[in-house]
Amino acid sequence: MRSRLRVTADEVPFSVMHSFHYRDGELFCEEVRLAQAAEEFGTPLYLYSAATILDHYHRLDRALHEIDHLISYAVKANSNGAILKLLSNAGAGFDIVSGGELFRVLRAGGDPGRCTFAGVGKTPEEMGYALEQRVYCLNVESEGELERIEEIADAKNIRAPVALRINPDVQAHTHEYVSTGSEENKFGITLADAPRLYARAAQMRHIDLRGVQMHIGSQITAAAPFAEAIRKVTPLARELKEKYGIEFLSIGGGLGIVYERSIASGERAWWAEGHQLSIQEYADAILPELRGLGLRILLEPGRLLVGNAGVLLTRVLYLKESGRKRFAVVDAGMNDLIRPALYGSYHEIVPVEQPSTEQRSEIDIVGPVCESGDFLARDREMPPVAAGDLLAVMSTGAYGFTMASNYNSRLLPAEALVDGNCVRLIRRRQTWQDLVCGETDC
Ligand code: LLP
Repeated sequence: MRSRLRVTADEVPFSVMHSFHYRDGELFCEEVRLAQAAEEFGTPLYLYSAATILDHYHRLDRALHEIDHLISYAVKANSNGAILKLLSNAGAGFDIVSGGELFRVLRAGGDPGRCTFAGVGKTPEEMGYALEQRVYCLNVESEGELERIEEIADAKNIRAPVALRINPDVQAHTHEYVSTGSEENKFGITLADAPRLYARAAQMRHIDLRGVQMHIGSQITAAAPFAEAIRKVTPLARELKEKYGIEFLSIGGGLGIVYERSIASGERAWWAEGHQLSIQEYADAILPELRGLGLRILLEPGRLLVGNAGVLLTRVLYLKESGRKRFAVVDAGMNDLIRPALYGSYHEIVPVEQPSTEQRSEIDIVGPVCESGDFLARDREMPPVAAGDLLAVMSTGAYGFTMASNYNSRLLPAEALVDGNCVRLIRRRQTWQDLVCGETDC
């Protein structure tokens, strides 16, 4: 375990760098009182810190300064246009997985020439749109997809820049739903098959071989799997550079963040547990493999940049006891934040008004949706909670709003962005009219 004395800013685990803190008995985001934001915009409300997002971006950028690199933010983590604009202005590229995400990036002023288009099931329409917009690269996941791109590029008489996604077959040691780099997953092309497919692509008249890509999974909290995957793929990357003049290697995203106790027990307590990866450790592990490769390195972080930069604010509607259980029914449900129900994910939940007692007791924090799986936390040790209290569900900036739905005909929540002492709405709450706006037979 490291001594605290040795810790430099870039060695601190990712999630320490967030701008949520108690001041004068209240939770703040940067210089904004969360209670004020909730009064102004209502709840449930996703609220993000611009400073935290930029801080994470710049830290990663700095740690990799010695190599030619591009941070291509994985839009799926949080696709609000204001956040895309923030990152685009900071110099980020974008990793997209649908025509819709490309549309969002362009609308936010993002440069298509810094976009990579990933995903196992791109439709011909999406491929056509991406080619017309001149994206930097399409990351191909199967031979069938490669053939389809060639056909579309031929029909449009344009050239298609392509990379193949390689599945390096490493264990990422993360939740099975978000592990992608082993041969049991649907993703990528095996290392054994790659040379043949590259050779075939090189024969195609409209394909330009531009790079090689991989991504082994998400919420990975150790450096070793990243380094192992890179070690496995670099011999191929060297060969491809020599044979076909490829220009980049994308090492994917997947950097994990801290979800537990970043606020309630203070930074020091969980830092001392020493169980997290820092940006510097990540960089130290991967740089030796990447230096001297002579390729541009692309990274596709999503969660790292935005995860700890967001909270979901929710209000307690009722307290209830049944049998042996106590419940706090809040106004945010699984439709607003599905991660606890879907992956059993842990999100720290703290009262916006700082508790005045050390007293804690177990309670389930549940939403209004008609399913027993609709919980934000189970058997959670919480300070006293009362109806009307505001709670902050921490570390929900990634895969929070983007996975929200209208289930139970509940309205998608509002989103707000804090920048210093300003807070502004970046997405208004839906209305009942929005719920039915696409319906045609009523
Ligand atoms: N690149 C590719 C090809 C990906 O599939 C993903 C995420 C990323 C980059 C970004 O990964 P990140 O840096 O955010 O870990 N909904 C899940 C996470 C799904 C991740 C899917 N792919 C969750 O809430 O944990």
